Amino acid sequence: MCGIIGYTGFSEARGILLKGLKSLEYRGYDSAGIAIYSKSYDEVLVTKCKGRVAALEDKATSIEGTTGIGHTRWATHGGVSDQNSHPHKFGSVTLVHNGIIENYEAIKNQLGVEKMLKSQTDSEVVAALISTYYNQSGEPERAIIKAIKELKGTFALAIMFDDIPNTIYAVRNVSPIICCKNENGVYIASDITAIGEYSKDYFVIPELAIVKICNNSIVIKDLAGESIEPEYMTLDWDINDSGKKEFPFYMEKEIHEQPRVIEKTIESRIKNGLPDFEADGVDDSILTECESITVIACGTAMHSGLIGKHIIEKYCKIPVNVQMASEYMYNDPIINDKTLVICVSQSGETIDTLEALKYARKHGARSLSIVNVKGSTIARESENVIYTNAGPEIAVASTKAYTTQVAVFYLICARMSLLKGIMSENETKEFICELMKIPNAVQCILNRKEEIHHLSKSLLTVEHTFMIGRGLDYPTLLEASLKLKEISYIHSEAFASGELKHGTIALITKKTPVIALLTQDKLKSKQISNIREVQSRGANVIAFIKESLIGDSEYAFSLPNLTDDFMAIPSITAMQLLAYYVSADKGLDVDKPRNLAKVVTVE
Ligand code: M6R
Repeated sequence: MCGIIGYTGFSEARGILLKGLKSLEYRGYDSAGIAIYSKSYDEVLVTKCKGRVAALEDKATSIEGTTGIGHTRWATHGGVSDQNSHPHKFGSVTLVHNGIIENYEAIKNQLGVEKMLKSQTDSEVVAALISTYYNQSGEPERAIIKAIKELKGTFALAIMFDDIPNTIYAVRNVSPIICCKNENGVYIASDITAIGEYSKDYFVIPELAIVKICNNSIVIKDLAGESIEPEYMTLDWDINDSGKKEFPFYMEKEIHEQPRVIEKTIESRIKNGLPDFEADGVDDSILTECESITVIACGTAMHSGLIGKHIIEKYCKIPVNVQMASEYMYNDPIINDKTLVICVSQSGETIDTLEALKYARKHGARSLSIVNVKGSTIARESENVIYTNAGPEIAVASTKAYTTQVAVFYLICARMSLLKGIMSENETKEFICELMKIPNAVQCILNRKEEIHHLSKSLLTVEHTFMIGRGLDYPTLLEASLKLKEISYIHSEAFASGELKHGTIALITKKTPVIALLTQDKLKSKQISNIREVQSRGANVIAFIKESLIGDSEYAFSLPNLTDDFMAIPSITAMQLLAYYVSADKGLDVDKPRNLAKVVTVE
């Protein structure tokens, strides 16, 4: 959570920092601030305020200089206020911080600086610590190294000193910072969306290395003072794709990108009609030698694992257990060298997923991650990685990352089943043919989005909804329900329809909105009965039914016909649109729902 940015070079820093912060705002939008070295004042000047970057832009009109750092905050330690906004300045040290310092109280007491602090943040204490050591040694790198050795927790820090103009130091532990340069200077940021326009070649700052950037030079050293060569990567999506284009919100744009990115994710892994992970460097042995799979993830990413479970168990005959990353290690999981852990994460930075991955590996599990952001921490900590080709996902509510994660699960399922000799080559080719129909089915739904928009109107004034479905439709509804909750603030619960009579149906009264999903042939009559049961208690049912299953049942929206096992992606596309229209028509900030941030780096 929180986004940081830094620039040093030959242009005015203000515009670059503010523009970068706007791209990083999805990481946190409680407050924003910038600090720029001013030649006229011969010191680093800070401007910051609570609220969005737009508010900061109005405030930071006259701050000039060519070296600066910036921050957009998701509050953890200390409330949302001007004082708690970053950058923090202590003595001659100014810094921005992303992460959590667990021992900041102890450090504060040890330094005896309580009365001198202006905020309640852990971050200001780090500035005080570095400042103290800098005053002692007069050597910035030595002071930073001494300070970070004392820190417990995660951090990405960009640091400036009043008396070292045109220079920024950066250091990180777990929380990401990437770096790139061009003829105009050097740029650092929490992610590439903020600085990708300046260069396609970038590197992730190595953990616990001190990076010094100055004009357009970059020097990286480890804690022992040895030089480190950066490992450059190349941005493989067009930065111009990262704007909203003609869409009012990123979420709508990202929903519309799904046919293309799903196709891209699948096609790059098909060779002669069969799934192939050779280019990803994935070792087939992890798929053949495992005796059980544990999928570990959070939120939407975890829901993709529930779809993965459904299909892998069916086609690969291997038990798949899906775990919320935040619970995993506290439940004494059964792990051995025959356990394959699959971590799923859009950002590749979710701390719960990362910690669970480390725990599983430490206890002997093999690992594979499905990640969207290249070079992210989870990708690097995992033995094997399959990247989703979703491109940058900016809206807090995940859409295209989810559907590409599900697409990767289909590919894993097909490859594993083929390798295990469960599906023959021909059967696997047929499976892949069905998979390749998904982008078109998604496009068909997008072409009819106004029908869904119309249906969404009935949800505008409700406080609660229930979603009911069976088989593969149930995990799809868990995800649909999360989408509706997080962006429309309507309380929504998904239930396996068969469970209704075991308690939940007591909540159904006259006009209770119920969204019903039916895409599974073998469950048709049972689901229709469940729909009748809630209707007979007065519920207003909005039914999404696969075209071939409609028969004479009443329906609100017909879903395109695909084989049952491949319906998860088209169904969720319809639900994403439903949630989107409710939120947009309620006048809410669809892309930045309250209290949330896109990247969750706090346990
Ligand atoms: O970056 P990750 O995929 O690891 O994030 C996990 C969840 O925080 C995320 O999927 C979240 O639930 C979605 N943004 C909700 O739409």
